[in-house]
Amino acid sequence: LTKWREQQGDKKQLFCVIGDPIAQSKSPLMHNRAFQELGLQSAYGAFLVKEDQLEAFIKEARDCHLAGLNVTIPHKLNVMKYLDAIDQDAKELGAVNTIVNDNGRLIGYNTDGIGYVRSLKEEAIASLEHAAIVVIGAGGAARGIVHALLKEKPARIVLVNRSIDKAELLASSLQHNGVIQVCGLEQLQSVCADADVVINTTSVGMYPNEEEQPALGSWLKRGAVASDLIYNPLYTRFVEDAEKHGCMKHGGLGMFIYQGAYAFEYWTGLKAPVQAMREAVMEALA
Ligand code: ATR
Repeated sequence: LTKWREQQGDKKQLFCVIGDPIAQSKSPLMHNRAFQELGLQSAYGAFLVKEDQLEAFIKEARDCHLAGLNVTIPHKLNVMKYLDAIDQDAKELGAVNTIVNDNGRLIGYNTDGIGYVRSLKEEAIASLEHAAIVVIGAGGAARGIVHALLKEKPARIVLVNRSIDKAELLASSLQHNGVIQVCGLEQLQSVCADADVVINTTSVGMYPNEEEQPALGSWLKRGAVASDLIYNPLYTRFVEDAEKHGCMKHGGLGMFIYQGAYAFEYWTGLKAPVQAMREAVMEALA
């Protein structure tokens, strides 16, 4: 990190993403394009950091006066103990993906769930107020999304999961005033029938196992939104099939772009150039 810092010459603000693995990350391309677009003298790098190197890396980040970091698997939980403060939402989620260096104090945030919701509202449905939402899956990704969806005041969120226990655990860990309901996969068809938005948060359907995802588009009502967190493929079989049945399709790339857009805005105080960021990522994926 110290060496990389020296190589950046007269760049004023430095950022990076850390994780393991990290080589595939599109965050450097996306953020460097955003800096370029707005004419900022900033740079963004990517560093492979193993679990036992995390503490030392955060110390080095402080010593190098990094302006901000993104944190990905496997550090989202463990990094919290090395920070000076954690935003309330990130605390509730138990995970940090964005760190802001505020005059030497490292503050942790989580932009994954709110990034997803912003993407959904920009790209598929203007308001989620009073909406009936179905979320398939109950893992870490579902947790961030449901936490952010609750703030939009939906009528209900039905958590559909293979193991009901896990869905119940997730529901009971979030403040929801009865908004969240839970059921097993065998009820998926009936709950999809009157949902306004159906979101797949599982990895079923991800490259190279696209074929494993059922084409359940015909289960949704016309005009509903079919959303999938997967972005490889850009649109999964589920959302493609739903579109054929008169639904609006929403892929997972927007979640990645907007979690980055929020991070960019927290770091710079400027509106993120979302279109340029999306183009940079699309070019890299092509
Ligand atoms: P992530 O952090 O990406 O959400 P995760 O925590 O491993 O990943 O959660 C994956 C979710 O996808 C889980 O809800 C899992 O269901 P279980 O709780 O029953 O394990 C769900 N999932 C994974 N593979 C699945 C499959 N083949 N069929 C149905 N659900 C599946």
